[in-house]
Amino acid sequence: MNILAIESSCDETAVAIVKDGREVLTDCIASQVDLHRIYGGVVPEIASRMHIEAIYALADQALEKAQLTRDQIDGIAVTYAPGLIGAVLVGVNFAKAVAMATNKPLIPVHHIRGHIAANYIAYPELKPPFLCLVVSGGHTMIVDVQDYTKMEILGTTLDDAAGECFDKVGRVLGMPYPGGAALDKAASMGDDSKYPLPRPNPGANPYDMSFSGLKTATLNLIHHAEQVEETIDTNSLCASFCKAVSDALVPRVIMALEQTGYKKLAVAGGVAANSRIRADILSAAADLGAEVYLPPLSLCGDNAAMIGAQGYYEFLAGNIADMKLNAYATKSILGEAL
Ligand code: KG4
Ligand code: ZN
Repeated sequence: MNILAIESSCDETAVAIVKDGREVLTDCIASQVDLHRIYGGVVPEIASRMHIEAIYALADQALEKAQLTRDQIDGIAVTYAPGLIGAVLVGVNFAKAVAMATNKPLIPVHHIRGHIAANYIAYPELKPPFLCLVVSGGHTMIVDVQDYTKMEILGTTLDDAAGECFDKVGRVLGMPYPGGAALDKAASMGDDSKYPLPRPNPGANPYDMSFSGLKTATLNLIHHAEQVEETIDTNSLCASFCKAVSDALVPRVIMALEQTGYKKLAVAGGVAANSRIRADILSAAADLGAEVYLPPLSLCGDNAAMIGAQGYYEFLAGNIADMKLNAYATKSILGEAL
């Protein structure tokens, strides 16, 4: 089954064609990052307008690259939630038009389920059940993936997502948007024990996390240094920050592995590209004898291939939408009825 997949929830317009949920025939991305960088973050209206301008040509390009005609597409998968609402609407409306014109099923895909499914592309042998640490720009949670379309959230951030904090700290340090990758690079040259940063334990659920206190503490440290005209060792602050984020994530994931008994751990989302988090997860999971699934960097960030992968399993589960499909800025990963 060839699925044409569309992703437009933030600042990447992406169209992919994925066969049977696992084989990427083509994966086209038009990134807007350079444009938003001028403003230090994503400007929603600009994002929507750029998606509209890019999406048609990108879909044509995807078909051409895969050497397929529209008749050879068997379904249209699209990110319908969550994301910047104007941006998601562009993809949903385009997908509806293609589904109507081709008379093929319209498959709504939750963006975060898509991030998890990036692992099905990277690891063809991976099948649920497994545990997944989701760390993206907008979400941070530990998910029990019981089946392709059946999940349970074990713990989640109670405030900011890890990616948001990377971007905010990066911005205050004068790094280009999005700050995560630059901060990661700087951290590799720093001393992670130089700056003491908090390790919050919020709420009653031991799997829940909090990042806003860490973000504020880091920003206060930078602002205080500026006020007293002290030079910050940026590389070491980045290293200390990455370690603090990793310390919030990795022990909770390990606890979840121990308590669920799972021996398979997948990681998903843009922050899964972080080298400190990757290294810490690999070594902690190895101690437990658990298998770790870390997508390549190209599949960590937003892309449409992951939407096509999850779309296949949503289709098999009968999750098909009609022309009334709407877009949502927020929606649970658990998949309540549309
Ligand atoms: O999953 P994603 O592409 O978009 C969302 O769905 O939110 O994640 C984007 C986030 C941004 O916050 C970006 O700074 C972060 O992923 N990111 C990183 C790294 N590469 C991207 N964070 C830490 N280390 C990285 N190497
Ligand atoms: Zn994403």
